[in-house]
Amino acid sequence: MNRREFALSSMGAAAAGAQVTGEPVGTGVIGTGNRGAYLLKVVLGEPGAKVVALCDTKPDRLDKAATMAARDTPVTFSDYRRLLERKDVQAVFIATPCDLHAEMSIAALQAGKHVYCEKPLGIEPASLGELLRVARSAKTVFQAGQQMRSSRNLQQVAARLREGIAGKLVMIKAQRHAGDDLAHEGPSADWFFDAKRSGDVIVEMAVHNLDACNWMCGSLPERAAGFGGALVWANVPPGRTNMDGYTLSYEYRNGVKMSFTQVFFHPNGMPGSGQFFHVFGTEGGVDVSSGTFYPRARGAKPVKLVESAEERSSRDAHVAAFYECIRTGAKPPADVAIGVTGALTAILGREAIYRKRMMEWRELGVDI
Ligand SMILES: NC(=O)c1ccc[n+]([C@@H]2O[C@H](COP(=O)([O-])OP(=O)(O)OC[C@H]3O[C@@H](n4cnc5c(N)ncnc54)[C@H](O)[C@@H]3O)[C@@H](O)[C@H]2O)c1
Repeated sequence: MNRREFALSSMGAAAAGAQVTGEPVGTGVIGTGNRGAYLLKVVLGEPGAKVVALCDTKPDRLDKAATMAARDTPVTFSDYRRLLERKDVQAVFIATPCDLHAEMSIAALQAGKHVYCEKPLGIEPASLGELLRVARSAKTVFQAGQQMRSSRNLQQVAARLREGIAGKLVMIKAQRHAGDDLAHEGPSADWFFDAKRSGDVIVEMAVHNLDACNWMCGSLPERAAGFGGALVWANVPPGRTNMDGYTLSYEYRNGVKMSFTQVFFHPNGMPGSGQFFHVFGTEGGVDVSSGTFYPRARGAKPVKLVESAEERSSRDAHVAAFYECIRTGAKPPADVAIGVTGALTAILGREAIYRKRMMEWRELGVDI
């Protein structure tokens, strides 16, 4: 769709809160590092968007982003509050370190902006509870950067599980295994290894996987218990507080039991690496990533639950969905409840590991 077609189609958008001016949505990006630069590239390819402002505290990143977006001549800021004061900014993308997400999202919503905030939405229950309250009373769109929710294949698998293809769900086994640690001198090293800024690896990264488990399960955890730590890279880089490996068990409200591991030391070539989600039911199991159902009945053949290739990468589709919701007023694929419950699921597991005891969801103190 080109800008003119977009302008015409948006004229028909009648839903409450929808953007009906027909003009491209004035967009700001806060945090133009690795992820922010990627989002900026996708936004520049969106027919209904114009990049009007950019913000980063690091001048080199800001300059690089301004060069990328030169077509739209954005203004640049080092203080995100100045960006939020701009009337021509209607939507913002937030891709700063994790400890800033909740505070920046709340400020952006209170300034009347549509907000796409990277995952995790927050790293502590109290600020997540506050964000939930503010986003629920806002008239603008709020979307979490949990792009798996925009994967058509995963949507189809979740729908088939809800229909009962695997019978009553009883167990999930899932993992996120990498062969190496994040680069110790890399561009995100100034915050990533500090659990007070990242929320630790379970909140920073595995929030995607845990949200997908919640989704496939159709429920939320009641309690968690587990163990972990910096097992291979203790104090590397110096002062590190992030874990590099852990194992967790969750019990869901619908009775499903889950086992989840994340490691950064799965040797190259050793079987069982990477990410997977295996969902077990009374009638068989589903390999979520390939979208295949394996019936338990002897001799029964596996059943493919999804169409073949994704039409569009789920990451790009997720950004497109955000603008579609601004135009139409539709509910985003990863709304604030999904973002907050994903983060809380990860925090529940993290706290069980840190406190070396079983943690109950109600102890988090956030009413969903
Ligand atoms: N959805 C995904 O799959 C995905 C993938 C990668 C990263 N992320 C998330 O995106 C976020 C950023 O990750 P990254 O890898 O881009 O990190 P990064 O370090 O490359 O980028 C963060 C940027 O934020 C800037 N920043 C820090 N404080 C700021 C402030 N107060 N105001 C404005 N800018 C500020 C930094 O200077 C940096 O340029 C993280 O929360 C991460 O979890 C999500």
